Amino acid sequence: MTDAVKYSELGLVNTKGMFMKAMADRYAVPAYNFNNMEQLQAIVTGCSESRSPVILQCSGSALRYMNSRLLACMVKGAVEMMEDLGGSVPTALHLDHGDSFELCRSCMDSGFSSVMIDGSHRSFEENINITKRVVDYAHEHDVTVEGELGVLSGVEDEVSSEVSHYTKPSEVEEFVGRTSVDSLAISIGTSHGAYKFKLKPGEQPPSLRFDILEEIESRIPGFPIVLHGASSVMPEYVAMINRFGGKMEEAVGIPEEQLRRAAESAVCKINIDSDGRLAMTATIRKVFAEKPGEFDPRKYLGPAREELIRMIKYKNEHVLGSAGRV
Ligand code: G3H
Ligand code: 13P
Ligand code: ZN
Repeated sequence: MTDAVKYSELGLVNTKGMFMKAMADRYAVPAYNFNNMEQLQAIVTGCSESRSPVILQCSGSALRYMNSRLLACMVKGAVEMMEDLGGSVPTALHLDHGDSFELCRSCMDSGFSSVMIDGSHRSFEENINITKRVVDYAHEHDVTVEGELGVLSGVEDEVSSEVSHYTKPSEVEEFVGRTSVDSLAISIGTSHGAYKFKLKPGEQPPSLRFDILEEIESRIPGFPIVLHGASSVMPEYVAMINRFGGKMEEAVGIPEEQLRRAAESAVCKINIDSDGRLAMTATIRKVFAEKPGEFDPRKYLGPAREELIRMIKYKNEHVLGSAGRV
């Protein structure tokens, strides 16, 4: 491959060292999804200023939206930009919910330092086979791989599932042993998107299945676990969206204290996409409501970016525990 881009040329690292440190010091590394320049700027600014390692996370559809060549240049620039902020922090570029060997390979060839192969909708044997195929290629290039066992409810990047199928602890040793995967995403009651639970008035979200997490930890001690669907769907942003013309009344997420408890366990990576979307959308709606004549994108994307920086610093410090670890 003549024009392959090695991730180290972009200033990136894989997730191995990050997860070892997170496991030892009992916090989780944030994986923030992004689709555009302002989100990328906000993530590196928030993580540099809070001295947190960071995983820049990009789905297949985000990759198609951005273009992989442009993405590699933007990420290289974002890593360099950190020098002008609080200083650089360990940064990985990770493919979220890769659904084929070919997509994973093309990401590794274009500068990703980590990929997820999501075989969770396949049979156990097929999941092992495709995960192992990705791992074999990845490890030749020093790229780390996340696999998944168990299915989350909601949307997993164009794959829909009505119900949550919790991870079966009895399967994890064989899956990890046969695939040599570097981390494992599990299903313990989280789900993707902004509508994670259907609650009656006054009802609290149900607890995550920490009993399943603990059994998994005891079967594969010291192995990095990943939580998807881990936005708390921050009520202040939902309220702002509804106040300024939006309609997201029933949006609800994972309570922060449950995420804090998970971050202190073997959960080394927590995925956050929806909260970032909400922060930006709430801010943009506010600007448009208060200044209906505004049409300069910098005047609404700029404040949205500022709000996202605030949110990221808050999460790193108060939810994931990753602030101040660099
Ligand atoms: O888990 C899915 C992520 O939130 C990515 O969503 O495919 O809309 O970029 P997306
Ligand atoms: P949220 O929708 O809860 O932010 O989850 C994002 C995610 O898991 C990305 O893979
Ligand atoms: Zn996910």
